[in-house]
Amino acid sequence: MSVMTDWSEDAYFDTPERGTLDGGTTSSGDLWHSVSSRWGHSMHTMCSYHGMFPAKVAHQFIQQYSRAGEVVLDPFSGRGTTPLQARVEGRKAVANDLSPLAYVLSRAKTAPPTWEEANAFVDELEKAFKASKQGELDVSPDIRMLYHDNTLAQLCFIRNRLLSKKITTWSRAEFMLAGSLAGIMHGGWRRDGTSQYLSISMPNTFSMSPTYVEKFIREKELKKLDQDVFERLRDKLARLYLDENLGQAGVAHHLDAATLLTGKELAPGSVDLVVTSPPYLQVVNYAQSNWIRLWLLGIDEVGREQGAGRKKLNAVLDHRHTFSSYCDFMLRTALGIQRALKKDGIAVLVIGDVKDPGKEDALPLANQMWDEIKGRTSMRLLETIKDDLPATSKVSRIWGETKGQATNRDCALVLTHEDGDPDLSRTDIDWDEPWKDGGPDAAHERVRSARDAVEPAS
Ligand SMILES: C[S@@+](CC[C@H](N)C(=O)[O-])C[C@H]1O[C@@H](n2cnc3c(N)ncnc32)[C@H](O)[C@@H]1O
Repeated sequence: MSVMTDWSEDAYFDTPERGTLDGGTTSSGDLWHSVSSRWGHSMHTMCSYHGMFPAKVAHQFIQQYSRAGEVVLDPFSGRGTTPLQARVEGRKAVANDLSPLAYVLSRAKTAPPTWEEANAFVDELEKAFKASKQGELDVSPDIRMLYHDNTLAQLCFIRNRLLSKKITTWSRAEFMLAGSLAGIMHGGWRRDGTSQYLSISMPNTFSMSPTYVEKFIREKELKKLDQDVFERLRDKLARLYLDENLGQAGVAHHLDAATLLTGKELAPGSVDLVVTSPPYLQVVNYAQSNWIRLWLLGIDEVGREQGAGRKKLNAVLDHRHTFSSYCDFMLRTALGIQRALKKDGIAVLVIGDVKDPGKEDALPLANQMWDEIKGRTSMRLLETIKDDLPATSKVSRIWGETKGQATNRDCALVLTHEDGDPDLSRTDIDWDEPWKDGGPDAAHERVRSARDAVEPAS
């Protein structure tokens, strides 16, 4: 009897041509563009963040350049895309960001509490709120215009409770609660007038200036919604915990990146892979675009040009550079990465392109910057991946339009040590998601009933 397999079985195991799903592509092929924009662990959806990259971009590089058990670092972790993806893929995740919001999101995702712990904390807070006496709320008109009085009273109670402790000493449940709450602080209402968000109906991606919001509320006669914060938090947590939380807890720092990369927190030669997106050159202001969420974390007046919080964050975050100071900042970053990276390690720097007005053919910012600083490092460029996005799908573009500088191209610089010999053999990326839908039944049940309440099952 012949032992040859049927030809059709072979064909079944052929990798199908994937093609782009979102209209984007890269200079190295379609890569992550051939995967749905919803790809990734449910916890990625905690909070929208300006300048974030999709989970599938982090996955591509984590799979290609690291193995289970290895250390994956993001020194500018933003909403925590890289560390979350690294954790659920069995890597040791190390996150860092100097913005309090990004730190909270990164830490919540790097080391989440269990579903039971997270919910027990919401229950405890709700009980304490009900037992509390409510006095006058000491809140600025900028915040007051966004929320119903009942919602605001609950929000202020939770905020005071969180701020009674130094942020770096919070428990896992406190980080998860603050991160989840940040994610529902503002957003659009459904057509039927209900909402998963706490505010008047406004965009979720970034906070528009208080003066703009005020005008918008007046012109559109926007109403406030009497939202129960504890109930909306339970819904939010349920959505975040739909997938299984694989992997061991990682570490998140709240430091200037150069301090982290050259300090005692990271031993020299201890990191296998860096996947990061440093701040863009003058396109996204990570403070201003998050002023409402930053209020929740105790930083006031970030929305106002001359506000105390805005000045404080502008003084420390690297988002206001000229090209020359940007190169100095990137040199410090590259030298720090060079120190932290293992001999055969790899660093992927995803840099949003910024063009000089009037110079259509200018080199991408990433390459211009690298040309400028490479001679002062002992790193070499393995590859530049140019990632062209459809114009409509880049969040920073919405903001960039007013600045006239953002483009719809990102560049990923893939770097290694001058004498490094990294393993470049893994090109087949496995897009399976072993964590999918593995979360607690109670989370699935809550999401189902919340959905049914909006669209009653026929
Ligand atoms: C482009 S965003 C990173 C987005 C991230 N990849 C994500 O998916 O959310 C850049 C981050 O750098 C942070 N940042 C700016 N200056 C910093 C500094 N000196 N040290 C550490 N983080 C800094 C900003 O707060 C911001 O979160």
